[in-house]
Amino acid sequence: MADASPAHEVDSQFYQPASRFFPSHGNTALTYDDVTLATLYTEILPKESQIDTRLAEGLHLNIPLVSSDMDTVTEARMAIAMALNGGLGLIHYNMPEKEQLSEVSRVKNHVHGLIQDPIRVHPEQHIGDVLELIEKKRFSFSTFPVVDATGTLLGLLPGHVVKPRYAHRKVSEALTPRAQVRTISERELGSDPIARADRFFTENLGIHKLLVVDDQDRLQGLFTLSDIERITQETGAALKPARDSTFRLLCGAAISTVRHKDGSIDRDRVIGHVGALIDRGVDCVAVSTAHGHSRGVGEVVKMVRDAFARLPIIAGNVTSAAGVEFLASNGANVIKVGQGPGSICTTRVVAGVGIPQLTALYITSRAAATCGVTLLADGGITKSGDVVKALTLAQGVICGGLFAGCPEAPGQIVEINGKLYKQYRGMGSHAAMKAGSAARYGHSTDNTRKAAAEGIEALKEVAASLDSVVGQLIGGIQSGMGYLGAINLASLRDRARYIQVSPAGQKEASPHDVIEVKTSSGSGDKA
Ligand code: XMP
Repeated sequence: MADASPAHEVDSQFYQPASRFFPSHGNTALTYDDVTLATLYTEILPKESQIDTRLAEGLHLNIPLVSSDMDTVTEARMAIAMALNGGLGLIHYNMPEKEQLSEVSRVKNHVHGLIQDPIRVHPEQHIGDVLELIEKKRFSFSTFPVVDATGTLLGLLPGHVVKPRYAHRKVSEALTPRAQVRTISERELGSDPIARADRFFTENLGIHKLLVVDDQDRLQGLFTLSDIERITQETGAALKPARDSTFRLLCGAAISTVRHKDGSIDRDRVIGHVGALIDRGVDCVAVSTAHGHSRGVGEVVKMVRDAFARLPIIAGNVTSAAGVEFLASNGANVIKVGQGPGSICTTRVVAGVGIPQLTALYITSRAAATCGVTLLADGGITKSGDVVKALTLAQGVICGGLFAGCPEAPGQIVEINGKLYKQYRGMGSHAAMKAGSAARYGHSTDNTRKAAAEGIEALKEVAASLDSVVGQLIGGIQSGMGYLGAINLASLRDRARYIQVSPAGQKEASPHDVIEVKTSSGSGDKA
């Protein structure tokens, strides 16, 4: 592409690269809706664009999306779904340390397609008890592994004997004995358990269940033919899961700046916590606070860096170049950018501080480039177009609200006037601070009523599955990359050209002057 023609000169006068556009708006802080990206000559089809991103050494994602470390967004179920889609989930810390460790273990031990805790029955039970269990729990299956008190496999209770006419018979009389039950050892599953199970079902005509046992013949899991068929059919369309070097799903966890009563950082607890997370296989920790450019956060990052030289550390949040430099110099690899853009945030209202997100990203990206760290744009993402704009300056984005309505997010569904909702609350809301996140906002848990809340408690309309929401976001990102002729995210950052949008231009950007009969949110929120 020749840049010197008069046509290109006209374009470049209006559509400017970040290094010219943002300084020329020096006195105005801009956010996603304030700007739009200019299209460029392309030879790239959206589906050809590559969206993997390297956040740090040993932290490579196949999609640039991270689920927020909030107690209404990311626990094991969300982190598993995120990693299966190629992204990363950060498990929140508003729970006892032991529980957070188990959540991390659940992600790291997750084998896609393997039911890790299958419903089992015992030999002394009657078939009638099993029928009652099926009725009570509304199981749609009636074949069960039979185990003794130690979990050792004794056989399989086949569905064709689980009938009312045999109700008075004992399970021990009706089971297919262990010797006749086909199993596979955990070790044999290898690095691709789905392929292994798929091969097993092909080789063993008519068998629909494969039990997994450990070296002591204790039941460890169960594959079903129908699950494996569903997963193998999805492969190809599905995104590549984000895995570690031993093929386990990636998982991150948030840590708190735990303090002694005198206000000093409790080093033993911080290091003990991170050490335990590493023992469970965590791939990165996030030192998540509202104000990352502060002594306490710097101390915690440095402590963790000194103790664990190779662990990827995410830290934040900041909105200044000096903040990035500070966290990087203390040993952080990935910096979270965002103060007050979040959908449940009130920091700007309450404290009068914070910077609209695109300008914050541009300023911090300048320092990130010189410090050798990467950026995560954290908060304020409401549609896939926002993600594209964020990715012109950052290596990934963190979403809270967009994922909080998904079934994979923690929390009960409530019905109000016939509509279904899930709870979504800021980690700086009174309720969340009381549950443990007060330190994130520089308060102590016993004093939260007096502290000014910097977040609200809200509801999100129940959304589609995370797969579907992520699918919509990825579709949008790839469309954006197609329009800019960007084959990968580095090229997107390089090629982006910005122009400010007037209020009328913003109005023009959304559907207008029509009666909408079908909503397309651009986020998959309601897909
Ligand atoms: P979204 O817009 O995705 O934002 O819902 C999620 C991000 O918001 C931050 N966060 C908060 N910020 N008060 C704040 O000022 C809060 O109570 C609060 N809770 C979360 C956080 O960075 C999250 O990832």
